[in-house]
Parts: sequence; C-alpha cells; structure tokens
Amino acid sequence: MIAPSLLAADFARLAEAADAVAGADWLHVDVMDAHFVPNLTIGLPVVKSLRAATELPLDCHLMIDDPDRWAPGYAEAGAANVTIHIEAVADAVQTARAIRSAGALAGLSVKPGTPLEPYLEVLREFDTLLVMTVEPGFGGQDFIADVLPKVKLAREHVRAGHLRLYIEVDGGIAPDTIEAAAEAGADVFVAGSAVYGAADPARAVEALRAQARGAMSV
Ligand code: DX5
Ligand code: ZN
Repeated sequence: MIAPSLLAADFARLAEAADAVAGADWLHVDVMDAHFVPNLTIGLPVVKSLRAATELPLDCHLMIDDPDRWAPGYAEAGAANVTIHIEAVADAVQTARAIRSAGALAGLSVKPGTPLEPYLEVLREFDTLLVMTVEPGFGGQDFIADVLPKVKLAREHVRAGHLRLYIEVDGGIAPDTIEAAAEAGADVFVAGSAVYGAADPARAVEALRAQARGAMSV
C-alpha cells in the first residue's frame, strides 16, 4: 500500500491534495505538537474536516506527547489507522485497546534509535508497526537504511505467525529507497516529497507501488 504524506502538500489546499492521490491506499496525516517533535502541524479539527473531504482512509501518525489521552479521539473522528509512538505512550496496551474500540486500527511507531525487541509482546495488541526511516519531525530527510533490520525482524515474526501486522515505513521513501524497504518486508510505504514534489502525484503513487510490488518479499 502507498500512503502519500500530506506533510509535503500545500496546507491551504488539503482537499485538493487528497484528490490528487485518489488512487492511493491510505492518506498519511502527520500530527505534531512541537513537544514530542520540534515541529507543529495539524490536529483533530483538520482531521475531522479531511474525513469529510476525502474517501481515502486516513492514516494518522501522532508525533505527540500523551497519546494515551489524545489518540482515541482520532479514531472517533473516523481515522482508519491511528499510530502512536512507543517513546511517548504511558500505557501502550490500554491505548491500543481504546483506539480499536473506537473503530480504528491501532499502530505503534518506533523512532530510528528505538529497538524493537522489547516491544514484540506489546505488538500483539496492534495492527500496524510504523518503523521510522528518518528522525520524526520533518519531511524531505534522507532515508536511514540502518533501521531495515527492524523491518526484517518484524516480518520474520509475522511470517512465523507470532504477530499480525502491517509493516509501514515512513521517511525518505522514494524511487531509490522503496525497493530496499520492500525487500526487507515492509508492505505500507509513506511518501511525502516523492509524491507531492513530483510533477504528477498520481503517477508518482503508481510508480512507487509498481516498484514496491516488484521488490516485495512478503
Ligand atoms: C516525518 C513524517 C513523515 C514525512 C515523510 O516526521 O512522519 O510522514 O512526511 O516525508 P518524506 O517522504 O518527504 O520523507
Ligand atoms: Zn509520518
């Protein structure tokens, strides 16, 4: 699946940006609070408006402190997937359950420096693992290939039947990096600059999907 990130779109024209990628699978919405990450983007009112403006499933990536308190509201607003950060959450299991009971898939994200092994058990409560392939906070950064062993490890656990997860990668995903991520075992690819920086965002989505399909080892 390809999830274009609105972070690279024109924030005054979000509905048009959603329409421009109508053939995508999820629409990735980066929520930042200027505390968990040093950047401030959009929050719940914008997500509610987006929900009414597009049919695309909304993939909300919460880069915020205290997701225990805020995440269920994004599920109630109609997000398809709500991802929280393990580095920010106090009670991951309880928050995953609250997201799911509000009707969304629950996602867990790890920053590049955060290992996966301590969280393999808690991931049983989640539907999505988001492996950050850049430091969260900004679009347009270089892909960090060093995190791919985490993608491989998660894929092994899914293959063995220990976990059932979408494995999503986010940050620096572009024509020159998506194949490595797909080979490692990712099946959801967030792309901001590579989609909205392209002359034709819809074609960029199709091209990325074709590349990922060709390289996927799932
Ligand atoms: C970074 C965000 C990403 C960002 C990716 O903190 O989580 O979703 O939009 O942007 P690109 O694809 O430009 O690296
Ligand atoms: Zn993101």
